[in-house]
Amino acid sequence: MNKKMVVARNLLLCALIIGGYTLSIGHVAASGSVGTQSSAQPREDLRRFMQSKVHQEYTFLSYTIWHNRPLTPAKMDSIAASSVKIVGLSNELTAYVALYKEQGWSNEDVKLFEEKRLQLSRVAQELSRAAQKRDTREVHNFFTHLDNTCQSCHKRFRPDLQWL
Ligand code: HEC
Repeated sequence: MNKKMVVARNLLLCALIIGGYTLSIGHVAASGSVGTQSSAQPREDLRRFMQSKVHQEYTFLSYTIWHNRPLTPAKMDSIAASSVKIVGLSNELTAYVALYKEQGWSNEDVKLFEEKRLQLSRVAQELSRAAQKRDTREVHNFFTHLDNTCQSCHKRFRPDLQWL
């Protein structure tokens, strides 16, 4: 890519990320009233978990990887640490499966959720390894995979959430 294309691409990514933020903030505001009903509580809990933990790491990674070049060793270390946190978060996601099942998830939903949850864990592990190796190319690749993993799970459960 030439320089102009890189600049244009970065500008586009920034616009998309800001758009994504606005979208997520909109959801938090919109979900406030739903949270008052007790039957909606598990959904609220998962939303909050996604928003305040998973999405927070994702935003950090996205900014550091795409907008804060070059990837110095210190940044690589923080990318590795953030990815390890995502591995932990993907383990915590199992807690929500039983709750969702009670609320009417089919076996197929449960299966897909579990597959995607494991995929998130594996990709985050790869990303962490790539950052430890200081391999910029692999970091870019695995972050793209990570992003796709978020989106492929949302495609089923929250199709309104396509932020990139
Ligand atoms: C295993 C499936 C799965 C994966 C993987 C996943 N999510 Fe989610 N996410 C969900 C589900 C289900 C919801 C919807 C919760 C609801 O509305 O009931 C959700 C909702 C969200 C929301 C919306 C919260 C709100 O305020 O409504 C954000 C933001 C989010 N996820 C971010 C992410 C990011 C970033 C990643 C990847 C790093 C990711 N998610 C990976 C299942 C997943």
